[in-house]
Amino acid sequence: MSITGPLDTVFLDTVAIRADFPILSRRVRNDKALVYLDSGATSQKPVQVLNAEREFYERHNGAAHRGAHLLSEEGTEIYEGARAKVAAFIGAAPGEVVFTKSATEAVNLVSYSLAPSIRPGDEILITEIEHHANLVPWQQLAQRAGATLKWFKALPDGRLDVDPSLITGRTKLVALTGQSNVTGVITPLAEVARLAHEAGALVLADGAQLVPHHPVDVKALDVDFLVFSGHKMLGPLGLGVLYGKRDRLEALPPFLAGGDMIEVVRMEGSTFQPPPARFEPGVPPAPQAAGLAAAVDYLTALGMDNVAAHEESLTAHALDALREIGGVRIIGPDTTKDRGGAVAFEVDGVHPHDVGQVLDELGVAVRTGHHCAWPLHRALGVQSSARATFYVYNTHDEVDALADAIRYAQRFFGQR
Ligand code: ALA
Repeated sequence: MSITGPLDTVFLDTVAIRADFPILSRRVRNDKALVYLDSGATSQKPVQVLNAEREFYERHNGAAHRGAHLLSEEGTEIYEGARAKVAAFIGAAPGEVVFTKSATEAVNLVSYSLAPSIRPGDEILITEIEHHANLVPWQQLAQRAGATLKWFKALPDGRLDVDPSLITGRTKLVALTGQSNVTGVITPLAEVARLAHEAGALVLADGAQLVPHHPVDVKALDVDFLVFSGHKMLGPLGLGVLYGKRDRLEALPPFLAGGDMIEVVRMEGSTFQPPPARFEPGVPPAPQAAGLAAAVDYLTALGMDNVAAHEESLTAHALDALREIGGVRIIGPDTTKDRGGAVAFEVDGVHPHDVGQVLDELGVAVRTGHHCAWPLHRALGVQSSARATFYVYNTHDEVDALADAIRYAQRFFGQR
């Protein structure tokens, strides 16, 4: 199998891109070419990102915002430079970007910090299509505060049933994903934000699957908070992002407490820095921030419109290819309208874990299970599924390899 095809160069030069990702030339499982279709779980990293992290440790390793020496000063500049770069990438101001350890931690930060303002009888509105990371923290908050949890339901094709009557005068917060990690469904964030704001509610968007794949402008979406992960957008593991409108962040008390998030500390009590420092105790993850800044540069150079168009082309191809295989059910919309590059599917008569294992033997890496979105699977009448996700380095030949591997799995399990 060759790994490039003419279609791949329409929006992105995948030959040049793949050369930047050392891991993509690995041979796996009896010398098979690696076909990495699990970027929704974590993306691979280009040398530019690896080098940025390495260079930090080799030349600039000092605790940012701490020492009086050159290395600490350089570490601070790199860390704050990364914040400015990430902010510009989503149309925010640097002071509106908080670095966390993950998108999950960012959701927890908001849910814990909002807790004092949630009263018994208040309502928190989520959706049935959420990843557990944007679901369980709100269940926990509702339980702790005596609030009522409500949710927009999933439609049969996995799209969101945005029922405005669920947003009431008691709604304090609406939390929803921008793009499902299972079906690729893109939700109407701006519309939900408008409805929520009319009712006086805040909006938190989970952008873990949206920000890496589409141009995102927080001012146009008008969400109050947006969370996403560095590692799903070519950056290092261990760094998440919380965007919050400045006044929203200023209204929140600290989540985790410790060094450097304080203003004045006395034995009787402490006062706290303004955001973002208020939410960043501990020595900052500057090397990871340097890596994420390099990832942002990389994506910016490709152009996020091109990234989105490339993935749409791969997704259209995958939907066509899977539809042609008898006995395969696509979980989610079967067109690319308002849909990103996550394609979950079931194979009749073969458990998704078995599908995943046979695909892996052929070098095709997909995720299997409920993908941390159990309620969505339940709503769609599916126990679990296999899922392929695409990114900038994937090619149309790899989509064909996926389809071939599914056919092989069907034959292997005697289904064809
Ligand atoms: N949230 C990641 C996924 O959907 C891990 O696979």
